[in-house]
Amino acid sequence: MMELDPTRLPRHLAIIMDGNGRWAQERMLKRIVGHQRGVETVRMVVEQVSQLGIPYLTLFAFSAENWSRPPAEVRALMALLKRFVRSETSRMMRHDIRFNVIGNRAELPDEINQALNETLAKTAANRGMVLTLALSYGGRQEITHAAARIAREVAAGTLRPDQVDERLLAQYLDTADLPDPDFLIRTSGEMRISNFLLWQLAYTELYYTDINWPDFTITELYRALSDFQARERRFGKTSAQIQLTQRS
Ligand code: IPE
Ligand code: IPE
Ligand code: MG
Repeated sequence: MMELDPTRLPRHLAIIMDGNGRWAQERMLKRIVGHQRGVETVRMVVEQVSQLGIPYLTLFAFSAENWSRPPAEVRALMALLKRFVRSETSRMMRHDIRFNVIGNRAELPDEINQALNETLAKTAANRGMVLTLALSYGGRQEITHAAARIAREVAAGTLRPDQVDERLLAQYLDTADLPDPDFLIRTSGEMRISNFLLWQLAYTELYYTDINWPDFTITELYRALSDFQARERRFGKTSAQIQLTQRS
């Protein structure tokens, strides 16, 4: 296994888990079989990332736009999600993982919200890794919702327009309690963001692999993290400035 520098891991790792359908279709299987296999990759990644001591892991599991998939696939995904949340709760307790959800939960079926609430409540006091699932999530929807809430408060007189800055806006997003992702992995070869964490990804390092999510392995995870460790994050500064602060 590749060696990683434990002092240079991302604090927040985000993943767009893509390619389940193609994985299945390449094997003449139904798309849902790909989603089922994808859940096994999720289990592996959650365990590895929590063991590495990375404090925040966020997984894009279902986008706001995924509602337009065929109803049978949406139903199957919801059933898988419910089973996953139920079956993983005890593992989350064992690993001290706190569960978190971002996205438009009002659009999720009641029984899903019930299952999510149970796991959120059970894991609320855990202090290890925060595992966030993005469900019915869209970055534009999230920012629009934040803007609307801010507008209502300004109209009500509880907020002044000159108080609206980057920090305040970030506090109105679903991710108010999370640091911005340092590293984003997307599987299956697509080089796009697909409306994920638009605001939060401003300075995130991006990583793409051709491997479909069900085939993503521990070795691939380490390969990605080792790629992250070789990067220089400049945040607009010059390389010389960055090296100066690293040496001091
Ligand atoms: C990712 O795999 C899972 C979800 C979006 C729910 P896909 O289902 O998008 O797989 P492809 O992209 O069709 O292969
Ligand atoms: C993004 O994947 C959403 C999730 C991984 C949950 P999609 O497969 O929906 O993205 P597009 O449609 O190819 O951009
Ligand atoms: Mg896809």
